[in-house]
Formats: sequence, structure tokens, C-alpha cells
Amino acid sequence: MAAILPYSDASIDLAAAELRSGSVVAFATETVYGLGADTFNPDAIAKIYELKRRPMGNPLIAHVIDLASAKRVSSGWTRRSMNLISACWPGPLTIILPRRPEVPAIAAGGYDTIAVRSPRHRLARSLLYACGGAISAPSANRSGGVSPTTAQHVAQDYADQSELIVLDGGPCTLGIESTVVDLSESKPVVRRLGAVTIERLSELLGPIEVDMAVAQSMSPGSSIRHYAPKLPAAIVDREALAQNLASGGRAAVICFANSDVPSNHVRLEMPQDSDGYAAGMYDALRRADESGCERIVIERPLSQHGLWSAIHDRLRRATTM
Ligand code: TXA
Ligand code: MG
Repeated sequence: MAAILPYSDASIDLAAAELRSGSVVAFATETVYGLGADTFNPDAIAKIYELKRRPMGNPLIAHVIDLASAKRVSSGWTRRSMNLISACWPGPLTIILPRRPEVPAIAAGGYDTIAVRSPRHRLARSLLYACGGAISAPSANRSGGVSPTTAQHVAQDYADQSELIVLDGGPCTLGIESTVVDLSESKPVVRRLGAVTIERLSELLGPIEVDMAVAQSMSPGSSIRHYAPKLPAAIVDREALAQNLASGGRAAVICFANSDVPSNHVRLEMPQDSDGYAAGMYDALRRADESGCERIVIERPLSQHGLWSAIHDRLRRATTM
């Protein structure tokens, strides 16, 4: 079992020393837990890919404390990118810019661009201060699986890794990954929907294109199916829920408060608001997997706007076979 350490000065110092010596450390951020290594150490980065079983071509996000650190990994900063980060950093926005040649190619999956984000969670910030550099970190799930939003989730995913330290910063408050915006070309393009909404980005950047095809081509095999539980899972419209549950195997049903779920199934009730839903979504998928049921049925949320569009994106990927 990986070792869960409570957040303290001592655990931050220990984890920073591990990072400096080329090890991998898992840590809390406000979005999901990350599996981090020193951005400038190619051997340490290789360990992330190995641990996570991530395809080598899928690039990582470099986490930085501030603009000065961001400029040590990326170039091409303009007024547009600086305005954007003054509005959104520290926080759940990742931007893609040209990679500096000093950054090992493996830290960006071989691409000549690099994704950077300055997290808001104070544990992640303390760790960045203590190690003094940049930390490359994907979400700490095994590749293709459900992202972790608690230290316990990470420890379960790496039950065979007794050496791995997991810095426990409590449950992630946002619970859904950062929004990824590509600013490496003349027109900004959203590569992944996430915690910063398209509406908010349009206020800051003007009308913005969403093109997730490029990001998907970077993770061959796991492109569409992602964030996926182990059990077969389907999204079902509210009106079709009763009929779906009347036949077929016992289901873990991720639903809303007023939904009718027969008592032979397991009910996992979600908040009605998008913030609450996002915060609990991955935990619900994990609990559904462990419920002893044969399948997962997710009641389709009705709203489409704001954070709901990122939630729909994750639910669609979680249920794609
Ligand atoms: O909230 C988050 O972003 C979390 C926490 C730990 O910070 N991290 C995270 O990392 O979700 P990961 O590796 O699971 O997802 C990174 C996403 C992937 O879809 C990847 O393809 C995309 O960002 N990405 C990274 N670098 C890129 C690049 N240079 N060009 C295009 N897409 C890139
Ligand atoms: Mg991920």
C-alpha cells in the first residue's frame, strides 16, 4: 500500500526531498490528485509513465508556483496569455505554450509545446515552494481509470507501491480536472473541458473554439474511453430509468434526489448543483465499482451549460466502451 502522509511541514519537506532525488510523489490539488516528478529530470518523469501505465506520447502538465516559474518551462508569453493567467491563476486553468529547450522532451510527451498550470491548493503550493522548481503531474489514476479525488483513492490505485508517498490534502474541492487551453497558435483553442467554464473563457478571450481531437490523438488507445470505471456503465435519460432498471442485472445507480430507484439496486445520490456534482462524481464512480453490483447506470443530468458541459464530457468518456 502506498503511504498516506497528513499535510504538515515535515511531510512537505520529506516529499520535496523525494522529488529532488528523482522519485515520484502523489499530492492533492484543488482539481484531482496528481502523480508528480521533477519536470527537469527525465528519469523521474519516465517513472510517472511507468507507474501510471500511460502511453508515452501523452504529454504531462508542468505545475508551477507563479509566472516566473512558468517562464522557465515555456516561452511565447504574450499579453493575451498573461491576462488570462492573471484572471485564472492560481487555479484550474492549464495553458499550452511552446516548450523551452531546457525542458526534457519526455516531460511533454515529445511535443514541442508544454502544458503549464499553477494550482490553488495550499498543499500543492507548499510542495512547489519547498522543491523550488516545476512538478510535472498527470492525474494520479492508472491510465484510463477514474481520477482520484482523495488520498485514499490514490492509495487504492497503487496498492502494490509501498514506496509511494501520497500527501493528503483532503478531498479535492473542485473534483474535476483543469480546463486546457492551447495558446501555442494564433487562435486560442480549448483542448479539454474542465473546471474553468467556456463561458468564463469567452469573457476573457472572446469567442473560443473547442477542439479536443488533438488532445485525444495524444493518448492512443485510451482516447475516447477514459475516466472509466471497471464495471460496464451507461448514461440513461431520466424518463428511461425505470424501464432500464426493471430488467438486467443489479445496478449501482448514480442519480438525483427525487429519482425513482427500485430497492433491489444500489442508490448513489448526487447533488443537484454542478459544483457539488463535479466534486462528488469520481468518488461516486469509484463507489459504484465497489458496490458489488454488475453494472453502473448514470442518470443523465439535464443541464448543459457552465460546468455541466465538462461533467457531460467526463460521463460520456466514462461510459464509452
Ligand atoms: O487538473 C488537472 O489538470 C490535473 C491536476 C493533477 O493538475 N492534471 C491532469 O493531468 O489532469 P492529465 O495528465 O491527466 O491530463 C492532461 C491533459 C491531457 O488531456 C493531455 O493530453 C493534455 O492535458 N496536454 C498536456 N500537454 C499538452 C500539450 N502539450 N498539448 C496538448 N494537450 C496537452
Ligand atoms: Mg488524467
